[in-house]
Amino acid sequence: MPPNNPIRSLSRHGSATTAVLTTTTTQYIPPFKPSNRDYSNMAAAAAAPMRSSVVSPTTTDKFSPLQQSNGILTSPVTSPVARRKAITLESMNQFLRKADYAVRGRLAIRAEELRDRLAKGDITLPFSEIVNSNIGNPQAMDQKPITFFRQVLSLVQYPQLLDSEYATKIFPQDAIERSRVLLKEIGSLGAYSQSQGVPYIRQSIANFIAERDSFPADANDIYLAGGASSAVSSLLTTICNGPSTGVMIPVPQYPLYSASLAIENATPVPYLLDESTCWGTDTVYIETVVKSSIAKGVDLRAMVVINPCNPTGSCLTRDEISDIIKLAAEHTFLIIADEVYQTNVYEGEFHSFKKILRELQRDFPGLYDDVELASLHSTSKGMVGECGQRGGYMELIGIDDQVLEELYKLISISLCPVVSGQVLTELMVNPPRPGDESYALYQKEYDTVYEALKERAFTLFNAFQKLDGISCQEPMGAMYLFPTIHLPPRAIKDANRLKTEPDEFYCLQLLEQTGICVVPGSGFGQKDGTYHFRTTFLAPGEDHVKRFIAFHKDFLQKYS
Ligand SMILES: Cc1ncc(COP(=O)(O)O)c(C=O)c1O
Repeated sequence: MPPNNPIRSLSRHGSATTAVLTTTTTQYIPPFKPSNRDYSNMAAAAAAPMRSSVVSPTTTDKFSPLQQSNGILTSPVTSPVARRKAITLESMNQFLRKADYAVRGRLAIRAEELRDRLAKGDITLPFSEIVNSNIGNPQAMDQKPITFFRQVLSLVQYPQLLDSEYATKIFPQDAIERSRVLLKEIGSLGAYSQSQGVPYIRQSIANFIAERDSFPADANDIYLAGGASSAVSSLLTTICNGPSTGVMIPVPQYPLYSASLAIENATPVPYLLDESTCWGTDTVYIETVVKSSIAKGVDLRAMVVINPCNPTGSCLTRDEISDIIKLAAEHTFLIIADEVYQTNVYEGEFHSFKKILRELQRDFPGLYDDVELASLHSTSKGMVGECGQRGGYMELIGIDDQVLEELYKLISISLCPVVSGQVLTELMVNPPRPGDESYALYQKEYDTVYEALKERAFTLFNAFQKLDGISCQEPMGAMYLFPTIHLPPRAIKDANRLKTEPDEFYCLQLLEQTGICVVPGSGFGQKDGTYHFRTTFLAPGEDHVKRFIAFHKDFLQKYS
């Protein structure tokens, strides 16, 4: 590291492996702990005597074909210390090792072990099913795909069906017509598309954005992606330039961001969301974070905003969004607006960053023209919930043309986003309209999913409201609740003794006793001295809610 590298001014907290900028204005427990993965197998493997790949004089004969071939290897391999593996844990990309992703972390791994035991007929467990409330994966619960989307996907995957006598018997006319249009525009789903995505689909997305925001949108600004995660990865690879690069991330945050920044060896600059105002953003405070990070030599390039928010379930107000845009204009940083939950809004209204930016540009000519914005959307969330199909896009506004050229090169290296995922994205932004044959069914399916999510959110919230030792903000959006758990000191002491985060200690016991898998708040980051967990509200029924309540009461009694 060069002697005056600004990163020297960053502190590492305890054993955390990702450098996190601390500011004078916050008390902050870094969320990014070393992985809890069990490395004991690897340690045992390392300690074990080397097996057949050890090259000894007696085993060199297995190389003989090579030795004889074309004279490439002319002398026998005789070194007794030849390595067993070309790539080892120590020699691999260490930035990847630093990355942590709690959503599929220790709790999820343990849940899979327990599920396996149940499947093998283990009746010693105190529950008969695992409830995966740890991940926003709607169709892994009971959410059904939207029929029209799957009909069109089937037809474009197997176009011969369109010419068969069965097509009109099985599929509605609008699904058939849409498939013909898409096939005409795309050609075969088995062919690479343009790197940015199929032009027709980009135009469809631009039309959707224009209708949503009442401002024009340009198909050239749209980049389709294999899910929002892939768009985030391309974006961060493009903007990050080593450890001096700072990217502000909310705390708590969806760990895609901390993990991706760790892989890029860039510096996460945390800003706390305010639990007391429904996890709102306080821009006066955020500006102190901006200024103190710049003062510490961090090259602050971007700010991630997740709205509606994973994990808190909050939605930002117009004013909050407008204040963030003003801050970005003043301090020149890119806003990464993660808006994948834009239709998961149960209280209030969704305001897109793009719309508010365009309003500011209209109302204050010249002041906000240079603001850079990346906004993300996905087919994984909302009422679509097609996580496995990997569809999504980003819209890029105000980014330097030469940087865009480099980004284009980057996405071209992976050729193109999955074309079926692009088709699904087109269907999401351009669903059946009133008057279309499929409209009534589409609307019914959409409303059913929406109402079920809303009802489940409030069922869980109301249950938490009645419990001592838990406080929870009212659900506004997304698929999650992020309640505070007021852990008894004895529970914290026991957790510390076991070298486990106190909220993880709670969540592990919840899993072992009820089969309910949630994610500890420490996996997302949280204010120093507070403890949370994140639960989805996707699970149907109320049985698991009852099991949760019983567990929580027992836990408090046990440790009080
Ligand atoms: C806030 C947020 N952004 C992005 C993603 C990734 O979504 P995708 O499936 O589109 O990659 C998720 C997934 O849970 C998310 O919660």
